[in-house]
Amino acid sequence: MNDSTPDMQALQFTSDGQLRHLLTLDGLDKPTLESLLDEAARFLTPVGELPARNTSLAGRTVANLFFEPSTRTRASFDLAGKRLGADVLNLDVNTSSRKKGESILDTIYTLEAMRVDVMVVRDASAGVPAYIARHVKDHVSILNAGEAEVSHPTQGLLDLLTIRNHKPEIEGLNVTIVGDIRHSRVARSAAQGLRTLGVGELRLVSPPPLAPERGDFPGAIVTADLEEGLADADVVMALRIQRERIGNLDGIPGIDEYFATYGVSEDSMKAARPDAIVMHPGPMNRGIEIEGSLADSERSVITEQVTNGVAVRMAVLQRVVKSLESR
Ligand code: CP
Repeated sequence: MNDSTPDMQALQFTSDGQLRHLLTLDGLDKPTLESLLDEAARFLTPVGELPARNTSLAGRTVANLFFEPSTRTRASFDLAGKRLGADVLNLDVNTSSRKKGESILDTIYTLEAMRVDVMVVRDASAGVPAYIARHVKDHVSILNAGEAEVSHPTQGLLDLLTIRNHKPEIEGLNVTIVGDIRHSRVARSAAQGLRTLGVGELRLVSPPPLAPERGDFPGAIVTADLEEGLADADVVMALRIQRERIGNLDGIPGIDEYFATYGVSEDSMKAARPDAIVMHPGPMNRGIEIEGSLADSERSVITEQVTNGVAVRMAVLQRVVKSLESR
């Protein structure tokens, strides 16, 4: 199923240059990223006001196909579709016919026959979103909602939007990602977007067994020293250990030692810039990769990331459905 044909951009875009599928941020150019962030920003409303809505997806159908657990991504795609006026179908994979041996493509063809326009796919295997995108009819768009350790493009976009809302320029920022980098699709998508937008230093801090493979994060500084990684950081993102993707936990410190050595805490954040923001994609393990009081502090933008996730997914849905009209 691992589908690694080099030209993902040819797959993501229509022949006239419109975004048809969102499979990866890798290779998306700066104008495309910035225009998606600008569109998402327009969907943000002040706290206390009703969330933004329109009817741009009226008559369209969005299906959420999550073959791995999710709270934030699934709920926000659900809300995003509804706030744009779409019919939204949340397939319960535990009671779906995949449990009876139906292939993923037969499931997709079944939904295609029901005139689903957008399929939002999360899967534990690398290559699944692109594989599906290569097989669907012209009237269907595929959005990657989390692909193994490879890619989580809408998470990357919401992280960029959150940073942009707090820092005037991404260009030149010091961004530090701490935790299980090796197994993190969040880190990969964030790094791809940040590189395109001209990040200053991208630093990756983790114990050696969770460090990235060589060449996986071009241009990033890799270290096992938290204080070094956090020095003068503008943005700090903590990541959980992705136990579901780790066969052997040998060499990974126990909880207390992990928190003492790699935990992002009020104390360890003293090395960062005084106005540094703290991010976490969720789900969080308080007291392991992040101190609970820091996650709840004024410098934390973790709940804002969640809010921005709905806006970003609205922008992406609206963009790919617009491309439908020219197909
Ligand atoms: N950040 C993220 O993907 O969270 P969920 O697994 O809850 O969707």
